[in-house]
Formats: sequence, C-alpha cells, structure tokens
Amino acid sequence: MCRWWGGYIYGQYLAVSPIAQRVGVGKMLLEKGVEIAKENNLTYISGDTSQYATWSIKWHKRMGYKIVGYDSFYKTDYYSYIFRLQIKPSILWNNALFCKIVFLFSYIKTKAMMTNKGELTFFGRLVSRIYRLFR
Ligand SMILES: CC(C)(COP(=O)(O)OP(=O)(O)OC[C@H]1O[C@@H](n2cnc3c(N)ncnc32)[C@H](O)[C@@H]1OP(=O)(O)O)[C@@H](O)C(=O)NCCC(=O)NCCS
Repeated sequence: MCRWWGGYIYGQYLAVSPIAQRVGVGKMLLEKGVEIAKENNLTYISGDTSQYATWSIKWHKRMGYKIVGYDSFYKTDYYSYIFRLQIKPSILWNNALFCKIVFLFSYIKTKAMMTNKGELTFFGRLVSRIYRLFR
C-alpha cells in the first residue's frame, strides 16, 4: 500500500493455481483488495503483467482495469502493461481517451529510453544522468 499520489495498492504478484483458475478466485482476491482500498480511503489499485500474457490482460480488462502504462526493465527484453483500477470517482481516470493518451506517452517514453534488449538508449542515458544529478 502506498499513500503517495492519493494512495494506492500495487498488486505485485497475482496468481491462482491452474487447478483453481476461472472459478472466481482471482475476482474474489480483487474484491478483497477493493474493500481494503475503500477502508483506507485509497484512490486506485494498480498492477502489471507481461505484454504476452493475453489471459491476464483479458482478466484485468474484465475486472474493470484500464491499461495506463507500458514498461520495461534494465537488461531484460521483458515488457509489461501497467493497469489501473479507479476506486474513487475521477473525471480523468474514468475517461477512456485520457487513459489512452497516458498510455501513449508511457509507451513513447519506454521505447525512447530503452532498446529491445533492455539497454539504455542515448536518450535513456541522458535522462538517467540528469535524474542522478537531482536525486
Ligand atoms: C490471471 C488470473 C490471476 C485470473 O484468476 P482466476 O481466478 O483464474 O480468474 P477469475 O475466475 O476471477 O476470472 C474472471 C474472468 O476473467 C477472465 N479470464 C480469467 N482467466 C482467463 C483466461 N485464461 N483466458 C481468458 N479470460 C480469462 C474471464 O473473463 C473470466 O470470467 P469467465 O470465466 O466467466 O469467462 C489467473 O488466471 C492466474 O493466476 N494466471 C497465471 C498468473 C498470471 O498471469 N498472473 C498475472 C500476472 S502478475
């Protein structure tokens, strides 16, 4: 649970045993998360999944999450989608076009900063140097 940016829960790992999938366990866990978020007056629930995990992407969309980001990791060729499930009403975050624009910026940032093999591009090195100066 993080209280920055209005407060949110980050679902770091979500996995249901293959023998118990698609009977509502994932949904039940999420409902518990929503309950905790509401009790703690949090703004949203976030999570991520590999861009190739089509089943997980379908599950997140079915649960009402919106795709709002695209990320990669240093020295890997792993790319993931970032999801957001809004808990508190928000004119911006409940707007599909706004989420698409945020996703587009995130996609461009990720592609501009890193190569497909997870190396920093020239632009990426520049940004990380500037970031280190101000850290
Ligand atoms: C993704 C995951 C957590 C979903 O949990 P679950 O308990 O199986 O999902 P639920 O029973 O709550 O599913 C609700 C709905 O999500 C969608 N869904 C879930 N699994 C799906 C699949 N394999 N393919 C397509 N849609 C799927 C369906 O619409 C489903 O409703 P339906 O069965 O009535 O059609 C689970 O499949 C899992 O652990 N997968 C492997 C690990 C993983 O990918 N984790 C996420 C990345 S961190």
